[in-house]
Amino acid sequence: MSKITAQEASQIAQKHFKITAEALKLDGYEDENFLLETNTEEKYLLKISSEENNALLNFQNEILSHLSTKNLTFKTSKVLNSEDGNSLVALSIGKTARLLSWLPGRIWADVNPKTEHLRTNLGEAAGSLTKALQDFKNTSAHRELEWDLANSNWTNKHINRFHGEEKEAIQHFQNRFLEIQPVYKNIPKSIIHNDLNDYNILVTSDLAEPKISGLIDFGDSVFTQTVNDLAITLAYAITEIPDPLSAALDIVKGYNKNYSFSEDELKCLYTLVGMRLATTLTNASIKKEEFPDDEYYVISEKPAQNLLLKWFKVNESFAYYSFRNACGYSAHPLEEKFEIWAKSNQISLKTIFPTVTSEKIVNLDMSVGSTLLGNISEYNDPEVSEFKLKQFQKHHPKTILLNGYLETRPFYTTDAFKSEGNNGPEYRTVHLGTDFWVPAETPVHAPFDAIVKVIHHNNYDKDYGPMIILEHSFEGDSFYTLYGHLTLSSLNILKPGQIVKQGDLIAYIGSPSENGNWAPHLHFQIILDLLGNNENFNGVALPAKVDVWKSICPNPNLIFKEELENLEEELSEESMIEFRKDHLGKGLSLSYDKPLHIVRGEGVYLIDIEGRKYLDTVNNVNHVGHQHPKVVSAGQRQMAVLNTNTRYLHKEIIAYAEALLKKLPEHLSVIHIVNSGSEANELALRMAKTVTGNKDILAIEVGYHGNTNAVMDVSSYKFEGEGGFPKPETTHILPLPDSYRGKYSGDNCGVDYAQHAKEIIETLKAEGKGIAGFIGETLISCGGQIVPPKDYFKEVYKHVHEAGGICIADEVQTGFGRMGKTFWAFELYDVKPDIVTMGKPAGNGHPLAVVACTKEVAEKFNTGMEYFNTFGGNPVSCAIGRTVLEIIEDENLQQNALEVGEFLKTELKRLQKQFPIIGDVRGEGLFLGFELNDSHKNPLPDQASYLANRMKQFGILMSIDGPDHNVLKIKPPIVFSKKNAEELIFRLNTVFGEDYMSFGYTQKPLKF
Ligand SMILES: Cc1ncc(COP(=O)(O)O)c(C=O)c1O
Repeated sequence: MSKITAQEASQIAQKHFKITAEALKLDGYEDENFLLETNTEEKYLLKISSEENNALLNFQNEILSHLSTKNLTFKTSKVLNSEDGNSLVALSIGKTARLLSWLPGRIWADVNPKTEHLRTNLGEAAGSLTKALQDFKNTSAHRELEWDLANSNWTNKHINRFHGEEKEAIQHFQNRFLEIQPVYKNIPKSIIHNDLNDYNILVTSDLAEPKISGLIDFGDSVFTQTVNDLAITLAYAITEIPDPLSAALDIVKGYNKNYSFSEDELKCLYTLVGMRLATTLTNASIKKEEFPDDEYYVISEKPAQNLLLKWFKVNESFAYYSFRNACGYSAHPLEEKFEIWAKSNQISLKTIFPTVTSEKIVNLDMSVGSTLLGNISEYNDPEVSEFKLKQFQKHHPKTILLNGYLETRPFYTTDAFKSEGNNGPEYRTVHLGTDFWVPAETPVHAPFDAIVKVIHHNNYDKDYGPMIILEHSFEGDSFYTLYGHLTLSSLNILKPGQIVKQGDLIAYIGSPSENGNWAPHLHFQIILDLLGNNENFNGVALPAKVDVWKSICPNPNLIFKEELENLEEELSEESMIEFRKDHLGKGLSLSYDKPLHIVRGEGVYLIDIEGRKYLDTVNNVNHVGHQHPKVVSAGQRQMAVLNTNTRYLHKEIIAYAEALLKKLPEHLSVIHIVNSGSEANELALRMAKTVTGNKDILAIEVGYHGNTNAVMDVSSYKFEGEGGFPKPETTHILPLPDSYRGKYSGDNCGVDYAQHAKEIIETLKAEGKGIAGFIGETLISCGGQIVPPKDYFKEVYKHVHEAGGICIADEVQTGFGRMGKTFWAFELYDVKPDIVTMGKPAGNGHPLAVVACTKEVAEKFNTGMEYFNTFGGNPVSCAIGRTVLEIIEDENLQQNALEVGEFLKTELKRLQKQFPIIGDVRGEGLFLGFELNDSHKNPLPDQASYLANRMKQFGILMSIDGPDHNVLKIKPPIVFSKKNAEELIFRLNTVFGEDYMSFGYTQKPLKF
């Protein structure tokens, strides 16, 4: 039958519905669909179908009418009658026309990103649809449909269309579908939508927090197993995502808020998702053959293929337990039964360790932030850990040391424990067993009668080493106990299948050389389902999946008479926030709406209490890497011996001063050691004022120099910002030398900007005043990572020096090799400051700052008044400062800043070409920034904030600054590697592709 043209559609609308509108043809699978738009911008959907389908069309109209009586969180189309009152209009060409109200929204397929929140909302909408259809009855719904999952075994005969892994996966689901029939046949049925694919789901225009706005197209509705609708929703909505099971759970949780499924229904869900994918792929294969040129039939083939292969790899039982957990059931169905049994069959620890004589149990803290574990260099060294444990044991005689059930630990940092989650990398950090820290060679005995299930050597670093799993029966069911980190000889004590009696010797505790490289201990874990594993079993879980894992692996404490857990409760985040509000300075701020609870730093990463690693692109304080083992050790060692002031002779201050002076130009030969950047600048200003006898200071717009009185007075970022104060009379602000969006641009703009210094100096002179000096960050950080133009400092310094003033280079952010090309940023400008101030990176997190000056300044400043500083220059700080300088040298970090910085800048410029929202990319070495603007160079602070928040969700910390809050600053520890840079670019690329960012650039309203 010939197709209707847009012009004919327009005529149909006019003739039968008295609507004058333009028609636009839309995609359709069976129906021919047209968007009608009147000249008053009213919209309708005209659907043309074959009249053979009239009964079905009536059925669809009835569904829509039924739903219009329900209170739903989303919209469904309204059926509009023709001029003569009919909902179906017979056209002379054997077709039927229907008119529906137009639902605004973007189709799900076009939404980027599909967030966890949106998926949950989809579940809620689909669940409320299922609920609303429970009381809808219609005989037309009882029909035979290829797309009814209950009939999906029609695909079996097409299995030879597929090959390799795809065939294996489809066949697996087809077989499982046959196997689940006894349960599936008996689960509840109702009329369902049956096709919530990504073209039938509409989403609101809110780009930051989109919601489901409508569900459309009831053309496939059918009376069948209710749970099929959830399976179908999942089969489309969890495609193209790294972790489909987690994505599925978002939807299931949402669904469950409005419609609850039985345990039997959830048992079928995993297979049904697989069968929907099998149906889609079989259908696509057939249609491709029939209509080789029609793209529409294969539209969902690729995502379905990818999902099929991933879904096939998901363990069915684990998926089932996860669905149960998402729907409020205990994840493992036997959890409660086991608990009851365990409580009445408890054993003493002596049953397992008859040779260990202990009167007390002490829990060790090995959580992420544990100070017992200490630095990574300590906890990764089994000899150090063993030594610490022995010391602990010495101080706690007759004690058994244990810990670990559900403890989030920092150990598991290798790639073996890493996976790509839906929000960036995830690490399995939560421990599922209990560790007993007993000496090597301690015998281990069976807790209950058992059959030996697994004996295996998991011979990888930080794995179990030799491991045994025993199977025990309880009231007709089984549970398992796992013993890890044994001696190699333990592999020969038992044989798989062997019967073991309670109290029989089963193994010995291994030493680090044989036990997976750990301090000697027994990893003991209870397991209710081995999930098909017969060589190894997860001893640690992803934090996001712990609720399921802890049900599969119950608390070992359940089987012991002794109370194993006695650690103090952690302070809750809420209580910390409350305390801060009540008792800490009111001006303190916390980053992010949901503040991060960071408890450990390692290299370029900050790690939160859940073990989530955040790539830190913000922290220029921990310059050579967070908690660099050598810095930590230098501080610890000196702290243990002496920490006092500079009134005594000590070699550390000499060693530090010598090392630092080597890094400075010759003319800067005297240093004062202080405790913070603010204090350094405070002293520098005092020096300038004392030396010149003047008070007036030149400073740069949006500059920041610290938080004390005098430096606040020259920090335009603060006094001109929120809660600021009037500019002090003696402060004179030079315009921000920003050649991208500032007052001047072009090759010579450095001279133009510097001219302002000259003019101010002349005005002061005319008033009979001289200047004390000029203070400026060499690259302006809070100002938005501004790189002043080339002759700027040369010119400013010239004017200031001619007027007898002192030039202070604030290198608190920019010093110590970060620039790559040079050790200090002022060297990039070939200038000779009289004073250089340093801070943040000097002590790698330890409060250490320095003022370096010329001999002349130092001498004139020495008026006879003692300069005393209680903490400045103490041996601990000096030892740390010296070590930082050594590491920069030894690890070639200035060169790293140059190479990685260049790479990152080139990559950012490449992104800029792809995403014009990036208005400017600038910086030197690992001090970079890019700003976000619309197509008219207007700043986009909301997009900057969106970007920083999304990056945090992906595990990357970024900060925003600049007077318009539209600049993303990149100034990581300079150990930041090319791999880290690649990860940053990869995630930026993802977020720049998201709807909120592209809309930000064009600023055009969305059209539906
Ligand atoms: C350029 C600059 N100078 C000085 C300071 C003040 O340093 P501190 O916070 O150590 O007092 C800062 C701190 O952010 C800074 O960025």
